[in-house]
Amino acid sequence: MQGEVWVSGAKNAALPSIAASLLTGEEVFLENVPHLGDVRTMLTLLERMGTEVERPDSHSLSLRAQRLTSWEAPYEMVKTMRASILVLGPLLARFGKARVSLPGGCSIGSRPIDLHLMGLERMGAQIELKEGYVEAACRRLKGNTILFDISTVTGTENLLMAACLAEGRTILENAAREPEVSDLAQLLVSMGACIEGIGSSRIVVEGVKELKGARHRIIPDRIEVGTLVVAVGITKGDVLIRGAIPEHIQILFEKLREAGMTIQMEDQAIRARMDRRPSPVNIRTLPYPGFATDMQAQVMVLASLGRGRSMIAETVFENRFMHINELMRMGAKIRVAGSNAFIQGVPRLSGAPVMATDLRASACLVLAGLAADGVTTVSRVYHLDRGYEGIEQKLSALGAKIERVSE
Ligand code: UD1
Repeated sequence: MQGEVWVSGAKNAALPSIAASLLTGEEVFLENVPHLGDVRTMLTLLERMGTEVERPDSHSLSLRAQRLTSWEAPYEMVKTMRASILVLGPLLARFGKARVSLPGGCSIGSRPIDLHLMGLERMGAQIELKEGYVEAACRRLKGNTILFDISTVTGTENLLMAACLAEGRTILENAAREPEVSDLAQLLVSMGACIEGIGSSRIVVEGVKELKGARHRIIPDRIEVGTLVVAVGITKGDVLIRGAIPEHIQILFEKLREAGMTIQMEDQAIRARMDRRPSPVNIRTLPYPGFATDMQAQVMVLASLGRGRSMIAETVFENRFMHINELMRMGAKIRVAGSNAFIQGVPRLSGAPVMATDLRASACLVLAGLAADGVTTVSRVYHLDRGYEGIEQKLSALGAKIERVSE
C-alpha cells in the first residue's frame, strides 16, 4: 500500500459528545463527526427523545435538546449499541429521570454497567431494575467521591456528564484517562462546566446550575490510525497518514517499531513504512495509556505473519478472541490459553470466506484479507460500518484490492 490518507473523527469521542448535548437546551455544534453506523444510532436515539438534529454539512452536527418528549433508551437501540447507556447520566442530571435498557451480553463479554449505577446512586439517584430496564430518578444529583475499582471509559463519561449539573463537588478517582474522555471533558468545559484534572485519573468537577451551548471539534480516531498503520505493516507499504494526534498512539507505535516498522513524523503527518517480515511482539492490553484492547485483533494479524512466536494477553475484556478461529481458517497458527494467545508466525495467510463477529474483529479480518493469497470474503461487514468511515475507499485509494459486494 502506498499514498496518503486522512483520518476521520473518533467514534468513541463523537458518541459521548452527542449524548452531552442532552445537558443543555442550547445548541451544541459538533465538527469532524464521522459518518458511522453507531453515530446514526445515537442520533436516532436523541431524535426519538425530542432533540432537534441538523446536519449543516457532511461532517457537522447541530443538536438542540430544548424540550424532550421521552427520557427512554429502548432495548432495540441499546442492544445494537451499548454506548446508548451514555444518555443515562445527562438525562438524570438535567431532567431528574431516565429509563434505559440494560445492555445485556455482547460478543466480547458480559460487560456490566454496575459502576455507572453505583456512581449515580452515590450521587443520590434512586435506581431500580425493572423488566430489563434501569429506571432512575432524582431531585438534583449531589456531588460525592466516586472510586472506580476498574477503569471504565463510558462509566467515567456518564458520571462526568452527570457531575457537571450536580450540586457541589464530585471527585472521580481511578477515572479512565482515554483521550476520548478528555475530549468530552473539553466539550463540557466549553459548555460552562468546571472540571479539573482532565487527562488524569482524578477528575474534580464543581457542579453548576446549568450548561450552555458550545462548538466543538471531535478529535481524530486513534484506532483508525492504528488500524491503517498495521495495514501498512502487514502489506509492506509506505503511507502518509494525515490529521492524526501521534501522542494518542505512542504504545502501539513502540510495539510496531519493535516489529520492524519505521514510523516517524514527516511534513505534519505520520509516515509508516515496512520492508520486511514482522519480528515477534509481546502485548498486554490495558486501559490508556496502555495498549488499547481496540487494537488487539488487528495487531494479531501482524503477529500471525511474524518471524517467530508472539504472545498477546487480553486483560480488558474476557471474551475478545472471537477473531482467532477465523484467522486460523486463513492459515494462522494460534493457541489460546485463558486470556493469552500464543501466535506462531507463518510466512503467508490464504484467502477464505470469514465472518465478522464484532467491530474490531471485522477490521482484523479485512487486514488479514489484504495480506492473504487469493480472495477473502468477509461477511457481516455491518460491524465494520459501525466504526470505520469509508474504510474500503481509504484502503483502495492506497492500492488495496477491496470491494463491497452484497452478501
Ligand atoms: C469503551 C469503548 C470501547 C473500548 C473500551 C475499552 C466507547 C463507546 N467504547 O467501552 O471501544 O473497547 O472502552 O477501552 O467508548 N466494567 C465493569 N463494570 C462497569 C463498566 C465496565 O465491570 O460498570 C468492565 C468491563 O466489563 C470491562 C472493563 O470494565 O472488562 C472496561 O470496560 P469499559 O471501559 O467500561 O468499556 P466501555 O466503556 O463499554
